[in-house]
Amino acid sequence: MTVIRGATTLATDCKEEIALSVKEMLDEIFQSNQLKKEEVKAFLFSLTTDIHSFHPAKAAREAGYDFAPLFACIEPDIDGGLEKCIRLMLFTELTDERVVKHIYQKGAKILRKDISEIYNIALDGPAGSGKSTVAKILARDYNILYLDTGAMYRACGLKALREGIDPKDDEAVEKMLPYLDVKVEYKEGTQHTILDSEDVSTAIRENAVSMAASSISAHPAVRVKMVELQREIAKGISCVLDGRDIGSTVLPDAKFKFFITADSRVRATRRYNELKARGETVDFEKLHEEIVARDKQDSERAFSPLVCAKDAIVIDTSNMDIETVVATVKSAIQAKI
Ligand code: DC
Repeated sequence: MTVIRGATTLATDCKEEIALSVKEMLDEIFQSNQLKKEEVKAFLFSLTTDIHSFHPAKAAREAGYDFAPLFACIEPDIDGGLEKCIRLMLFTELTDERVVKHIYQKGAKILRKDISEIYNIALDGPAGSGKSTVAKILARDYNILYLDTGAMYRACGLKALREGIDPKDDEAVEKMLPYLDVKVEYKEGTQHTILDSEDVSTAIRENAVSMAASSISAHPAVRVKMVELQREIAKGISCVLDGRDIGSTVLPDAKFKFFITADSRVRATRRYNELKARGETVDFEKLHEEIVARDKQDSERAFSPLVCAKDAIVIDTSNMDIETVVATVKSAIQAKI
């Protein structure tokens, strides 16, 4: 079940304006989301107490939206709430992996810009800073797409390991490039990373792949290829991307940019627990050394290194739990829209 939201406001409480406003809201929801009749399960409207002239369910029926149950109820009167406002929750069963667009019109535009406008969130930072956990939560809460760009470089690193190529050997990587086939697919809202038609989403998480990914990602031609793919995926939709160069290079115009960091020992502890939970045994000190080496390599490479974009908000998560990090990011987003 996917809920699409809509809201609009009236200048006057009259039948004609209610009929037109409801039609305009529904038309835009259906067009923007390319909704088919059979995907819609129910329409639930709510009205503020200052609307009396016409029933929005009747307006919807008269506008041709009569193929699913329609219902309307009254909202409580809240001080400071919008006046003459009609809201909608549209219950749907979508048949594909569409990222839905919520529609807020007229005076209701100020209500939820965070979920109704197209915008990008860039989350950059070193390994283990917590950015991917934050990105997944933001994507779920805002109903936008999440792209883990590190997974793509991991797939490149895995390819080199499988071919017996040293990921630091520029010449060998160059030769491999025409045969490097990395794709991203989404199944039930989850990213799957595909290498040469094989789903490698689990294989790329092995610790051995981390350093190979960091080394191969320093190669300019590899980056050009991956960045092109990332921009293609992010084009024209709201999304959150995490990586090392999102705010600086991939999406320099992203509306919201964050640099998520943490002390290296805290990050190593997080990775250690993650690997342990997956049944991989690693030595903590060795893992910490690897993380520090990866930070150095990612930050010092000549082409598109890990940097904090000039206009990014820095969040040090060393002493924060994930709920606090998400709340910090969300309030920064809210303050800017
Ligand atoms: O985020 P991660 O640990 O899964 O990323 C693996 C490696 O890929 C990381 O060491 C650096 C590289 N990377 C990159 O260079 N640029 C990105 N946008 C994402 C990851």
